[in-house]
Amino acid sequence: MYTNILTSQNNGISTITINRQSKLNALNKETIQELHAAFRVADLDHDTKVIIVTGSGEKAFVAGADISEFADFSVSEGGKLAAKGQELLFDFVANLSTPVIAAVNGFALGGGLELAMAAHFRIASANAKMGLPEVSLGVIPGYGGTQRLPQLIGKGRAMEMIMTAGMIDANQALQYGLVNHVTTLEELLPLAEKIGGKIMRNSSVAISAAITSVNAGYEDGVNGFKTEIEQFGNCFGTEDFKEGTTAFLEKRKANFPGK
Ligand code: COA
Repeated sequence: MYTNILTSQNNGISTITINRQSKLNALNKETIQELHAAFRVADLDHDTKVIIVTGSGEKAFVAGADISEFADFSVSEGGKLAAKGQELLFDFVANLSTPVIAAVNGFALGGGLELAMAAHFRIASANAKMGLPEVSLGVIPGYGGTQRLPQLIGKGRAMEMIMTAGMIDANQALQYGLVNHVTTLEELLPLAEKIGGKIMRNSSVAISAAITSVNAGYEDGVNGFKTEIEQFGNCFGTEDFKEGTTAFLEKRKANFPGK
């Protein structure tokens, strides 16, 4: 049903794989639309507790936005491209209530790194290479990269990566805190699934409240502490809270209804 992506669902985990290998999984308009649809479906699916996003093949997660599509754009078309992309995919993913793990399996450049950064956290294979090469094309990152990279690795490091347009390898990304773990290519998805398994043991309702609260701290004009207080209070009205606290007091494992 999709042209450029593959989706699967297994044991509570939905995996979305960008599958446009001949173009190193570059994000053209159609792929962005399909990703939006697939993330939406996975988020609404009650059986999906964790979403993994990865790239097809051994070479690339995503080598960027599709340069051939915007090479002749005007000023207003350029602005619209960034606005539409952020709305449909990058902000959309960052604000999903289901946890999203990016499994970076190769080049994550430009829009590819921006997609990985929109995920809630990232792991990488040892062959991964990450960068924001946009200024080498005469443009800047337009899918949130100028904001999310400094949030994740600090302003000075982000400035250097953006200005040099260079790539860092997986170990450097680990040292910067851009990715949480580095493993072999073969072990990348198993590791993502293992972490997903740990997440799934917990209350999905509480996890979405946590995502909302953490994200609030990065939103202009929003007080993250205030959001946290509201979300904390809301948890007391959920079935998951009743189950979690009762199970603890009864010295048994919680079986969360996810409500
Ligand atoms: N947009 C469109 N097409 C892309 C692409 C992108 N961002 N990245 C790679 N491709 C295409 C190439 O044009 C090539 O297509 P072709 O075989 O039809 O000519 C194919 O993917 C394979 O890429 P190629 O450059 O031949 O592979 P490589 O191993 O020599 O180099 C990279 C790999 C990642 C270093 C190189 O592809 C690259 O620099 N890509 C662009 C990265 C970029 O600037 N991204 C930010 C965009 S804002």
